Order: sequence, then structure tokens, then C-alpha cells
Amino acid sequence: MNWATGLVCSRSGERERLTELHNLSAVGAPWLVEYELETERGRQLQRALTHRPWTMWRYRELLPLDRPEDRADLGEGGTPLVALSGEAALGGRVWVKQEAGNPTGSFKARGLSMALNRARELGAPGVRLPSAGNAAIAAAAYAAACGLPCRVAVPADTPESVIAKVRSYGARVDAIGTTLVESGAWLAEQAPELLDVSTLREPYRLEGKKTMGFELAEQFGWSPPEWILYPTGGGTGLIGIPKAFDELEALGLVGSRRPRMVSVQMAGCAPIVKAFAEGRDDAEPWPDPRTRVWGLRVPRAVGDFLILRALRATGGTAVAVAEEEVEMAVRDLPSATGLDWGPEGAACWVALERLVADGVIDRADRVVILQTGHPANYG
Ligand SMILES: Cc1ncc(COP(=O)(O)O)c(C=O)c1O
Repeated sequence: MNWATGLVCSRSGERERLTELHNLSAVGAPWLVEYELETERGRQLQRALTHRPWTMWRYRELLPLDRPEDRADLGEGGTPLVALSGEAALGGRVWVKQEAGNPTGSFKARGLSMALNRARELGAPGVRLPSAGNAAIAAAAYAAACGLPCRVAVPADTPESVIAKVRSYGARVDAIGTTLVESGAWLAEQAPELLDVSTLREPYRLEGKKTMGFELAEQFGWSPPEWILYPTGGGTGLIGIPKAFDELEALGLVGSRRPRMVSVQMAGCAPIVKAFAEGRDDAEPWPDPRTRVWGLRVPRAVGDFLILRALRATGGTAVAVAEEEVEMAVRDLPSATGLDWGPEGAACWVALERLVADGVIDRADRVVILQTGHPANYG
């Protein structure tokens, strides 16, 4: 039994049942899954957690599958939280949520596991998505595990190694366009019959990604950290983590204080940072996205207003970092920490260095960097 009750449009408040496949709402906005939550259920969940395996499925009441026992499960979630020490900790209290340990090497496994399992339950004939790399690899792996056909469109400059990895899981890959927006538009024309599982265009990837919030709450003994730095492309987790804390509060497991979310983007593609600085509710598409950090080369996010809302609601901020700074961090952080760092995670460390130097983040605050992907996926 899960506790989901329906879908609500994140813009208009319109409601829908969970029993059919959905992409965006009538007003073109993402759907959010709603739950019926109260403190007795919180106590029930907390008791159950003591004997459940450490994967994202330990929160199955908050993950809307009808038959979780039949799920395709590659061991997603349950990633370590590693305390930094020495210079890498910047004199503060900094933890790294090491998402590179997920199946397929990135946090994309969480959302795509949930989305593909749900797509199969609801009878989707197959799935399609544009992706810069990690989402394509994860979608292909979970489609294989679910026995569903999968088509992926990647920008033309995507490394051959990524394409080969996606193909190894049996998915069809086409290298088209220069950005995800172009690749996605092309694929929609080519395969309209397949369910679009691009970021926030169906309701379930967000649900998988929110489990990072549940894990952080548990790993910090139900006393959430003060700050979470999130490398932001489509922003699924940036929206999902505060949603997770809202759900935990409704269950009586955490209080009303939220971790302050920080959106980290690259200077060459920073639509959210710009919109945040200008006090806007929506972001303008970034005209000429330029960054080698593919996960962050997203010129337009369908959930831009939800990202901006989450930043403001949690008292967070948004920071753009330079390509060279991130390159240096990718080079230096492994020897400073003993961890594998993808450029997206390293971008968060660079942003943290700036926020600490500027006095925005206090050294006494507990800070989490989401280290979202394994550098090996870069080819
Ligand atoms: C490693 C990595 N980090 C961060 C992101 C951005 O994630 P989101 O789209 O949830 O903002 C991506 C997206 O491709 C990614 O691959």
C-alpha cells in the first residue's frame, strides 16, 4: 500500500487520478503527486524503516507503485553521506552525498527507476527522452529491466562512449541537434506513441528524486542540514527535496525548518541564477548555452517556476560558477577527498567556496553537496 491519493497541477491546482499516463497538465505545467499523510503513518513508517534495506524503496509508501513487490530494482538510492575533512571542508561542516554510487553511476537512476516502473504499470508502450548523458544511460538501463522499448535523442556532440553505453542496454539512440530542447522536439516528432519521460514531463521522476531528501533526513537523525547545494539543469531534485521535507513534516518526522536550497549553474548556461537575481517567477530561455558540464547545459527548464519557488521558499540562493574553476576542482578534489567527483558535483564545491568566502554560508552551518554523477560517465 502506498499513500498517494492523486495528481495536482503545480500551476493551476487542477486534479487528476493516478491511474492513467500523464504528461504535462492542460496549462502546460508539471503534475505533482499528492499523499494522505498524518503522524500515525509517520510512526508506522519510522518503525518499518528499522528493518528495511538501505535503497530508495525503503520509502515505498511515498513512491506511488501499485505493486512495489513486482518492481524492477537495480539497487537505486541508499547512497553514502561522507563528511569532508581538511581543506576540502573549507573550515566548515560539509558532507557529500555520493550519488555516483547509484546504478548507472548517477542520481538519474532514482527518478528513472520510479518513472519506468510506473510507466510499465500503467501500460506505456515504451519511453522516449532527450538527454545529455546520465539520464539516457539510466533510462536505457531501467527500460531494459522493465522490458520496455526506449528511444533516446542526444545532442550531436555527446561522447561516443555515452552513446555506446546507452546502446548496450538495448535502447535506440539518435544524435541530433545542439541542445536538449532541439533533440527532444525531434524525437517527439519521430516517436509520438512513446511516453515522454523527459524531466518533469511526467510526474514520477520527481518522486524518485525526492528520496534524496528522505535519505538526508534519516542520515542526519531527522534534523535536516542547513544548506543543500544542487547542480541544476532541469531541477527535478531541487524541487523534489523540499517536497520530501514537506511530506516528512506532514508525517510528523521533521519540523517546519527546511534546508536552504542552493541552485548551482555554469556561467555559460545560468537561466535560473539570472531569474533568481532579477526577482522573476519564471526564467527566460538561455540564448546560447555553452558549457562542457553537460548535466547543466539546460537552457530552459519546464519547472523553472517551481525551482525559483523552492529557492525562495527555503531561503536559498543561486550561484553561477566559471568553467575553469570547475575544471580545477575536478582535478584537485579526488586527491583532497578520496572521492570521485563529476563536474556537476565539483561545481557545487566551487559554489560553496564562494558562499563561505562571501559570508552567505556560516562555517557553523551543516552543508550538503550533492555529488550527482560518476566522472567515468563522461567517457
Ligand atoms: C551528473 C548530473 N548532475 C546534475 C544534473 C542536473 O540535474 P537536474 O536535471 O535534476 O537539475 C544532471 C542532468 O543531466 C546530471 O547528469
